[in-house]
Amino acid sequence: MNNLAKHDAQTTAGPRQVLVVEGLSRDFGGLRALNDLDVTINEGEIVALIGPNGAGKTTFFNCVTGIYTPTEGQIFLYDANGKKQLLNGKKPHIITSMGMARTFQNIRLFGDMTVLENVMIGRHCRTHAGIWGALTRNARTRREEQDTIDRSYALLETVNLAHLWNESARNLSYGAQRRLEIARALATEPRMLLLDEPAAGMNPHETQELEALVRDLRSRLKLSILLIEHDMGMVMSLSDRIYVMEYGSRIAYGTPEEVRSNPRVIQAYLGESDDA
Ligand SMILES: Nc1ncnc2c1ncn2[C@@H]1O[C@H](COP(=O)(O)OP(=O)(O)OP(=O)(O)O)[C@@H](O)[C@H]1O
Ligand SMILES: [Mg+2]
Repeated sequence: MNNLAKHDAQTTAGPRQVLVVEGLSRDFGGLRALNDLDVTINEGEIVALIGPNGAGKTTFFNCVTGIYTPTEGQIFLYDANGKKQLLNGKKPHIITSMGMARTFQNIRLFGDMTVLENVMIGRHCRTHAGIWGALTRNARTRREEQDTIDRSYALLETVNLAHLWNESARNLSYGAQRRLEIARALATEPRMLLLDEPAAGMNPHETQELEALVRDLRSRLKLSILLIEHDMGMVMSLSDRIYVMEYGSRIAYGTPEEVRSNPRVIQAYLGESDDA
């Protein structure tokens, strides 16, 4: 047991890993949507995952968050103590409670609920009052409820939505709904945040604000962030490193400069716009 613990813990100096994905593949019938992917995210890094439509980016998120079961490969998340934990086979809500949070490409908010309530739902995995507490509304439950409201409101301030706390989520602009999704993801107290096309549908001003928000989350909350994004300006200015996918495979990775000048990337992805 001790030997195992020693083996699993990170002891070497250098960047501490948060997410390690080894040889990840996922088939849908005859289609190989992910093919033998290796991805590593270090603590406090902002990393982008880019590639043409259908490359497998969202499928990668769905495997990492437990929504899809990998066909092959292993996914590990290091906890705050540097202990390596296997995510394969774990249910999405367990993976969330282990520190992995995400937003969705197709926004998934509760439109009839208020902005604040949508964030409070994210707190659910960090609260403890069971059915008994909810029924009796004892002192501990009431304290926990107030704490949930306070923390949720503070997160709305973080994403600049506090003034809209009592609005129905469906009445928010597209950009504001994307920021609300980020606040709800943050409510789960993640170590690793996955953002699936957060700038989609945003105007240039909103995109700039989003960039500042992502930087702020990394520096203030010490989050590691993995970002799927088609907005190349945002990807190049925000990312420490970039992974490039095509047809489910990793075709390049490196710093923005390395990726930008990679001939395979120019042909497969960045060149795409020349043909359009
Ligand atoms: N549940 C599913 N069943 C069958 N095929 C799927 C499923 N989910 C994804 N796919 C297929 O897997 C491939 C990768 O899809 P994915 O959504 O991961 O791409 P993507 O890189 O996120 O693309 P986009 O930039 O358009 O969002 C596509 O060919 C898609 O049709
Ligand atoms: Mg996608």
